Amino acid sequence: MYDKFNRKINYLRISVTDRCNLRCTYCMPAEGIQLMQHQDILSFDEITELVKYAVNLGVDKVRITGGEPLVRKNIVELVKMIAEIKGIKDLAMTTNGIFLKQLAQPLADAGLHRVNISLDTVNPERYHQITRLGEIKLVFQGIEAAQKAGLNPIKINCVVKKSSAEPDAVEVSKFCKNNNLQIRYIKEMNLEDGIFSQVEGGTGGNCSICNRLRLTSNGDIMPCLFSDIKFNIRELGIKNAIESALLNKPKSGHVAVKSKFYNIGG
Ligand code: 5AD
Ligand code: SF4
Repeated sequence: MYDKFNRKINYLRISVTDRCNLRCTYCMPAEGIQLMQHQDILSFDEITELVKYAVNLGVDKVRITGGEPLVRKNIVELVKMIAEIKGIKDLAMTTNGIFLKQLAQPLADAGLHRVNISLDTVNPERYHQITRLGEIKLVFQGIEAAQKAGLNPIKINCVVKKSSAEPDAVEVSKFCKNNNLQIRYIKEMNLEDGIFSQVEGGTGGNCSICNRLRLTSNGDIMPCLFSDIKFNIRELGIKNAIESALLNKPKSGHVAVKSKFYNIGG
């Protein structure tokens, strides 16, 4: 499928929950968030139907995000349902890694190809500060489990304030080299102020070649991370919501006042 500016759209990012077991300072307030109502959250069947529809229109790359996707109940089952759809060449997940120790192998068995794991520091105290709740040991064990399960290439998402030369990022970089992991530096963004940037080593942030659509856990198709435009698949139906998103995908993004990372998963 193509949008109005003739950009080929082949990448779908799916947020499967707005919930998270961490409270990263740049992502969520300490007290947590106003959670979506249970009845508003798409079922596995609804998500799978949407993905099938999108794959028929040419999507061949799918990423599962959150919130934290691994806190969604029976996530392995959903991964299996998506993995069974013919035509997906790349099926990935972005996770904080805390639950990977238990879930990496089941996810790989279900058909997940690879994972991106968030890690902004290798220092346990700093990790606890940044995530407000996280125990870094579990992430290290999660990374190891992902490697054992063959969820390759494993990429580490490292959020930096300004540059990859910051002390925490330098240490994460060394850790990645020593452990055969790829690193991607993500500059801390503020959607409300329209402060966004390209991910070093990533494919996003270049509007002229943007190939993405996003699906939120309550069924909004969002054509751009840096815009509040959205089309709900329950209200409009899948066909209409996707067509509207393609027609209204902005030439470039600006600000997104209502959007949050924990809703759209970056
Ligand atoms: N700026 C940049 N990246 C963010 N993420 C969450 N909030 C922000 C933000 N404000 C990233 C996390 C994770 C992914 C899900 O989104 O680091 O890697
Ligand atoms: Fe959770 Fe990821 Fe947000 Fe951290 S950045 S609070 S791990 S969703």
